[in-house]
Amino acid sequence: MAAINSSATVPNSPEISRLSVQCEAIATDTCTIRSLDWDRSRFDIEFGLRNGTTYNSFLIQGAKKALIDTSHIKFQKSWFDVLKHQINPTKIDYLIVSHTEPDHSGLISDLLNLNPKIKIIASKVAIQFLANQVHRPFESIAIKTGDKLDLGTNPLSGVQHHLEFISAPNLHWPDTIFSYDHGTETLYTCDAFGLHYCSNDVFDNNHNAIAPDFRFYYECLMGPNARSVLQALKRIDKLPPIKTIAVGHGPLLRYHLDLWINDYRKWSNDRSKGERYAAVCYLSQYGFCDRLSQAIAHGIGKANAQVQLIDLRATDAQELSSLINEAQAVVVPTWPSKSNSELQNSIGILLAALNQKQLIAVYDAFGGNDEPIDALANQLRSLGQKEAFSPLRVKQTPDSNTFQEFEEAGTDLGQLLNKKESIATMKSMDNELDKALGRITGGLYVVTASQKKEHSKRSSAMIASWVSQASFNPPGLTVAVAKDRAIEALMQVGDQFVINVLNENNYQPLLRHFLKRFPPGADRFSGINILENVAKGGPVLADALAFLDCRVEKRLEGPDHWIIYAIVEQGNVANAEANTAVHFRKVGNHY
Ligand code: FEO
Repeated sequence: MAAINSSATVPNSPEISRLSVQCEAIATDTCTIRSLDWDRSRFDIEFGLRNGTTYNSFLIQGAKKALIDTSHIKFQKSWFDVLKHQINPTKIDYLIVSHTEPDHSGLISDLLNLNPKIKIIASKVAIQFLANQVHRPFESIAIKTGDKLDLGTNPLSGVQHHLEFISAPNLHWPDTIFSYDHGTETLYTCDAFGLHYCSNDVFDNNHNAIAPDFRFYYECLMGPNARSVLQALKRIDKLPPIKTIAVGHGPLLRYHLDLWINDYRKWSNDRSKGERYAAVCYLSQYGFCDRLSQAIAHGIGKANAQVQLIDLRATDAQELSSLINEAQAVVVPTWPSKSNSELQNSIGILLAALNQKQLIAVYDAFGGNDEPIDALANQLRSLGQKEAFSPLRVKQTPDSNTFQEFEEAGTDLGQLLNKKESIATMKSMDNELDKALGRITGGLYVVTASQKKEHSKRSSAMIASWVSQASFNPPGLTVAVAKDRAIEALMQVGDQFVINVLNENNYQPLLRHFLKRFPPGADRFSGINILENVAKGGPVLADALAFLDCRVEKRLEGPDHWIIYAIVEQGNVANAEANTAVHFRKVGNHY
């Protein structure tokens, strides 16, 4: 095989900062070409943390040569420069397309220009999607679970690269496949098991450093398809030993494989318990529908409710009908006003499968020529459906506030779905224990947080009473934040926030204001006196007794709250004579 550079870093054009490409050997005759996107926006829903991402592709050189995935179009020049350093693109026999989302398929057209004879190996659905994406003929082989492709034996290494494929629909696109190389015991999973984390580490050397991103990514992309994850795990379990999971985003998994796989198994089992779920429909490859549906699904998951994402384009008629009919809530996007007969057929099936006991909600897909959302909402209301939240409109390119609004609407829906269970849990606590726990007191605080990215700003606030000093040096505190709180998204590791300490003499108006139920996306600070640019983490309430400017250091996951440990970087007291408002309770089964 061709010699592999130990590390080739090719910066892109200077005006696009912090993009680079890395190439490393990962197994016999196998290298990864990783496109490192250090600054990818955290405001795309699943990029919730602040660590950028990578797009990983792979080159396997048996007797035949196969490339697994390409890269994002933003790496057009640098990715091909590195690829050509490894192999003449005309010598590549196969391009294996794990799925057709543009972050991995963005350079397929360019590759076809260089090598029109390359054979594309993909699922049947992916080949259909790709035809619309590249607008040119190409050779292809559609594969499904159990199909194999023998790349033959590399004459230098003597290793035979025999590939076996697994269908993994919905992880996270409907057209996804995994590929397993028997010669190197490497499983290529693209989005599944991935994480958005950009570093020069090719492998998962540091479990603790990447675990929060691994978890967050699962919650956003895989959790809404937990049943599909379990199906894929069953198929993986039948494979011979796996030495490496070669993911499409972030470091490759090798040194903590059992932990990562067990995480997926446990989280997916937890999220598949019970029969009640919300079906969130979307249209892949249409406007912002995919990302917006993910935001709603993530919000539903935050409320610990089950959710199932359903691609209206790629789900077969029978499955679509039963998934919709059995759901307790159905969320529907607007669709293209000029849709083809297949999509019209799916929409007909969707509408026919609705039943009157379900909650319903609609959202703008923002695809450019959508059916009007009001007409859709009225059509569904006329069927007798009860609305879970008001129609979510999108009037300009979705930004962080749009995603926040969609996520919060999802959380409202999740809370509605879980209402009965939440009340039952509250009542199930032993009476004496309940009263004893209620004797634990805390102060009263308003946590505020705001973050800016380019022209977009997110901010939020909540009342907190479970706040406690937790260290002297450095000064630190913990705050417990319920998992379904909107502000939780702004309190990831590295984020900043402010604890506003309420004054026992004037806290009641602030308490009433922040305890209100805000509609999705509402400005929590409207009508409140705030001081901007005093603290780094967020607004300071002008009527607060004191404030503490904090940075999140660690997060500990509890059953229904995140325990957030933060370093206090600065603080100030407005009135040295006044006392902190105290929260006395009678019972411990709610705040
Ligand atoms: Fe990483 Fe589904 O694309």
